[in-house]
Amino acid sequence: MATNEGFAPAKINLTLHVTGQRADGYHLLDSLVVFANIGDRLWFEPADTMSLAVSGPFGAGVPEDNRNLVWRAAELAGATLGIRLAKHLPHGAGIGGGSSDAAAVLRFLNASEQAAKLGADVPVCLSSSPQRMQGIGEQLTTAPSVPALHLVLVNPQVHVATPEVFKALKDKSNSGMSDLPDWKSTGEFVTWLQAQRNDLQAPAMSMAPVIGTCLQALNTSRGCVMARMSGSGATCFGIYHTGTQARLAAKSLAAANPGWWVKRTRTTGRDLS
Ligand code: C5P
Repeated sequence: MATNEGFAPAKINLTLHVTGQRADGYHLLDSLVVFANIGDRLWFEPADTMSLAVSGPFGAGVPEDNRNLVWRAAELAGATLGIRLAKHLPHGAGIGGGSSDAAAVLRFLNASEQAAKLGADVPVCLSSSPQRMQGIGEQLTTAPSVPALHLVLVNPQVHVATPEVFKALKDKSNSGMSDLPDWKSTGEFVTWLQAQRNDLQAPAMSMAPVIGTCLQALNTSRGCVMARMSGSGATCFGIYHTGTQARLAAKSLAAANPGWWVKRTRTTGRDLS
């Protein structure tokens, strides 16, 4: 990648345990986060005034001014840039979107210290390797044992608003993850993962029942080992043993559900079989 380019990968919460709520309303989380090999793309040019041009399959309606986190990230870092942003990921979809875009700007400007000011999910997006995310998102520990995974991401093109999903969660004090084991195989990892949770999945599903339809479609697709929602939704992921299984499942899911966004991806992580 040329030095004036940025890549903003999809962020996937393999787990998302909500463990408490702070006095200011923000929730305490314990989440295992990985990154995909698909994402938004950015190009940066030095400029006298800030500008932002958004394109790509999900570019429609994305603000091209200081409402966009990309713009605010550059401003916070004290930079003036001409930015082009190609949106390949659905936004407001539980897979990073704007947070990952903002992190790409901060990486380009070497201004990572500004990340937490832009949103709870921005610090984790500065890295593209697996991490355990705690606190409200600012406490990060690398999780080097997490294997690279073959995933299919499915978004049923519904939007669920993050604050509303948190509000719909009845019990805010759930258990966190225990110490992360040193998994020796992908199978061992997935067995562990199946016993974890996304506490926002049930409330998001109650607001948008089609999320349940997505999970069902993933779970019943050939070769799917497990399926879960990412973040506050609505994007769900399915895990497959092989890349071929993921490719075939993505093809049949897309054919059966023409209105859905369906993408096969590989996540960053340890190469385990
Ligand atoms: O920080 P960010 O703008 O990404 O968060 C969006 C919304 O999600 C917050 O306004 C808050 O309602 C909710 N949130 C939360 N606890 C977190 C992260 C986000 O309650 N740890």
